[in-house]
Amino acid sequence: MPHAHSNRSPAAAAAAFLPFDGILYLDCAAHAPRLRSVHAAGLAALEAGAAPWAQSFDALEAQAEATRSLVARLLDGDADAVAMVPSAAFALSTAARNLPLAAGEVVLLLEGQFPSNLLPWQQRCAETGARIAAVRRAPGQAWTDAVLAALDAEPRVRVVALPQVRWDDGAVLDLDRIAPRVRAAGAALVLDLSQSLGALPAAIARWQPDFVASVGYKWLLGPRGLAWLWAAPHWRDAGVAIEQHWSTRDAGDGWRFPADAMPPSRRGARRFDAGGLDESLPLAMAGAGLEQIQDWGVPRISAALGACTRALDDALEANGLSAWKTPGHAPHLTALRPPAERLDAVFDALRRERIACTRRHGMLRIAPHLHVAPEDMARVAAVAAAAR
Ligand SMILES: Cc1ncc(COP(=O)(O)O)c(C=O)c1O
Repeated sequence: MPHAHSNRSPAAAAAAFLPFDGILYLDCAAHAPRLRSVHAAGLAALEAGAAPWAQSFDALEAQAEATRSLVARLLDGDADAVAMVPSAAFALSTAARNLPLAAGEVVLLLEGQFPSNLLPWQQRCAETGARIAAVRRAPGQAWTDAVLAALDAEPRVRVVALPQVRWDDGAVLDLDRIAPRVRAAGAALVLDLSQSLGALPAAIARWQPDFVASVGYKWLLGPRGLAWLWAAPHWRDAGVAIEQHWSTRDAGDGWRFPADAMPPSRRGARRFDAGGLDESLPLAMAGAGLEQIQDWGVPRISAALGACTRALDDALEANGLSAWKTPGHAPHLTALRPPAERLDAVFDALRRERIACTRRHGMLRIAPHLHVAPEDMARVAAVAAAAR
């Protein structure tokens, strides 16, 4: 495992990842590349799990709490606010279960938003008679302006469910401008930070959301199957979980569950914990990823990845392809927008050159991590420009 503070130079940061077998991996928005420390922590946990008699419940509990605290450091610092869940959809379904919504009221979200932050609201609307209003933007309009205009146009908005960064092209929403307007409208703010937490700072105290969700396997550099839910203070006291698992209840020293009364919920957002996740292997891997992010620091990750995507934009421009850029993209996430008739050729050329990215909705999503250097991005632009 690399020693803390040992891998802060760009070359050393790249060496913190397992080798890529000659692939230029630009798909962190799909799945994080594997850190050596995450891999080693997973293997050690797997080995330790071979002796279940040597596992202590208290040690597992301590590991879960330590991991919760590491996640909290990327949010508002309060481990009591954080619940362990299996997916972003589970977290957002918890939000949808709890927020008040009545017939005729409106849930505002983005057209083309990731389905984990759409389906729970569609289901809740079907149950309550509320409706979805999907924000569309005019050509050239920023998503932030489109959301603000929709808030003006829809007086009955009760919930605004948004990402900080769009999953398909990396377009950033300015939550500093949006959040106060959501509050002024008397609506709840629910954020899916799956495409930004770990790569962009999250200003929870400023935004004052009701709920925040994030997967762990993208920019948090952890494994699949362990995602995170942050809940505002009110919901930590009064929220109802969508699953009733024994681990969310404080059953006292005798661990008794009487038939006539549920034991009280555990403190804070632990009431929303999903069952089956207090498992050493994913917790160990998640913890190692989060520790590496703490060591590098989110601002430093953001700056380094910003240099990469800027290099891509500059190289596109130098090749006469300014129109292929995504305006207003995040530092860590962007998309190439070749004209439709060249999309196949560009995607095939990137694949031939062993450059891995995701193709979606007519765009090629580009999502580097610290194993990528700005020079790599100039090569991406050159390959794309030459493809016919
Ligand atoms: C914005 C966003 N939210 C959520 C997810 C995944 O959600 P889930 O954990 O529900 O599969 C993704 C995966 O691509 C995503 O991009």
